[in-house]
Amino acid sequence: MNGQHNAPIGIFDSGIGGLLVMKQLVKLLPKESCLYFADSGRLPYGDKGRQTIIRYSIENSIFLLEKKIKILVVACNTATAHALDTLQALFKLPIIGTVEPGAQRAVEKTTHGRIAVLGTQGTIASECYQKAILKIAPKAAVLPIACPLFVPLVEENYFTSPAARLIVQDYLNPLKKARIDTLLLGCTHYPLLADLIRDVVGDQIALVDSATSCADAVAAALEGHGLSYDGEGLPSYGYFVSDDTEKFRQRGTQFLEMPIENVHGIA
Ligand code: DGL
Repeated sequence: MNGQHNAPIGIFDSGIGGLLVMKQLVKLLPKESCLYFADSGRLPYGDKGRQTIIRYSIENSIFLLEKKIKILVVACNTATAHALDTLQALFKLPIIGTVEPGAQRAVEKTTHGRIAVLGTQGTIASECYQKAILKIAPKAAVLPIACPLFVPLVEENYFTSPAARLIVQDYLNPLKKARIDTLLLGCTHYPLLADLIRDVVGDQIALVDSATSCADAVAAALEGHGLSYDGEGLPSYGYFVSDDTEKFRQRGTQFLEMPIENVHGIA
């Protein structure tokens, strides 16, 4: 592969949420370097139409490909839902999204095949999680719930407020009757609401997040393609942001749980 194994992993998301995928990657693959692109200037993706998301995703991918990445991680559920197939058809490198790994993990976790999926309007409307789960477990019962207010709550750092609890309770009300055993957090931002969601749904329901399973899939793909880092150097991390870099740095640190340096604004 001509030294490609020492190239960085490229990751994009509509904003800071995909840093949760990167956090898992750093934990799992501490020798790998990462380049992260946050398209915060065009966030949110969750309420935009399919064609717009495809266009944004192609642009983001080309930006990272020009930086000579060895694998592309679409760390955004909405972008994965609408654009993963297109990206995989257009570009030659391995491309990993969040949906299939998340669906796989939910199917592994479920005890009675009753799974609820939370996501943005775009992700839920695309039915990508419903289809991915039923492909692996055709008898599963899937309850999709769009939670459009969750992303702004997290973005505004408002997720410990009483208002956040009311909103979570309201969105998750249908779960009371549905007797689900597994709840899949199908959006980059939702793991930050996990404690609150756990509090609202109780201990009997397994929570699965797509960030952890996506990182596992990236590790497997690197290994499978013979692209794992094989040098002696320290990893480096770089960030590109299509909006305010300082806001990204400050809020992103909460997601990544390590200092964020080397942030570049792009017009
Ligand atoms: N990254 C998006 C996702 O995972 C959430 C934020 C947005 O709507 O842009 O679906």
